[in-house]
Amino acid sequence: MNKKGQLIVALDVPSFEEARKLIDTLSPVVDIFKVGSQLFTACGPIAVRYIAGLGKKVFLDLKYHDIPNTVASAVVAAVALNQDVFTAANRDKQNGIFMLTVHTLGGKEMLSFAQEAAKKTAAQLGVLKPMIVGITVLTSDAKTENITETVLSRARLAKDAGLDGVVASSQEAALIRKEFGKDFIIVTPGIRPKGADVGDQKRVTTPADAIDNGSNFLVVGRPIVAAADPAKAAKEILKEMVC
Ligand code: C5P
Repeated sequence: MNKKGQLIVALDVPSFEEARKLIDTLSPVVDIFKVGSQLFTACGPIAVRYIAGLGKKVFLDLKYHDIPNTVASAVVAAVALNQDVFTAANRDKQNGIFMLTVHTLGGKEMLSFAQEAAKKTAAQLGVLKPMIVGITVLTSDAKTENITETVLSRARLAKDAGLDGVVASSQEAALIRKEFGKDFIIVTPGIRPKGADVGDQKRVTTPADAIDNGSNFLVVGRPIVAAADPAKAAKEILKEMVC
């Protein structure tokens, strides 16, 4: 098999200082860091700027879900953050925010407003447009009935609204890949190496299975961030991603 996926480490920590320690430790092995609601609420864009300054990529996971105009405005603000870090020299490297999330529950108009706002702002500012991916069903959710159909119908909505892809568990990744083709991005959280603690996640999978099912990006938090040796844990997961 020759499938490839990329690792995203979720910086789910309470302060910029803690994030910075992790970023510095992990930078030799990790290229993409997730800045989510905890870290962004605690320290704002400084973490994004720090990661981009090291030549690394940011997955901004703030799961926007609001009226279309507000979400579009938030996307404009996110794309504008890239202005600080994009220079003529690194324009092709996609440093800074290369992907961000919106919630598919916001509906088609909200999703397409978000994508249009990203395209327009990126063109105006001369920066690369972040990919916009839609959250389908949280991987901690084991209660939603007919999860597979729900995920597929939300993925259809995302596709119809012109999004670049979705966030979905590995359990639905193979079906999404089959239905929406090779260019539709699939981001998969809920990754647990063999024998790891599951925590609050319900629909978990191993790194190798997620790649095998067609996921492009694997989001891993606690198995790396809470490990005694985060760089070693990341290397082990990267090894498990080769299948
Ligand atoms: O610590 P753990 O590996 O469970 O972290 C998973 C990360 O993926 C968290 O940062 C969480 O916010 C994120 N995520 C998720 N389910 C989604 C979307 C994002 O678990 N559907």
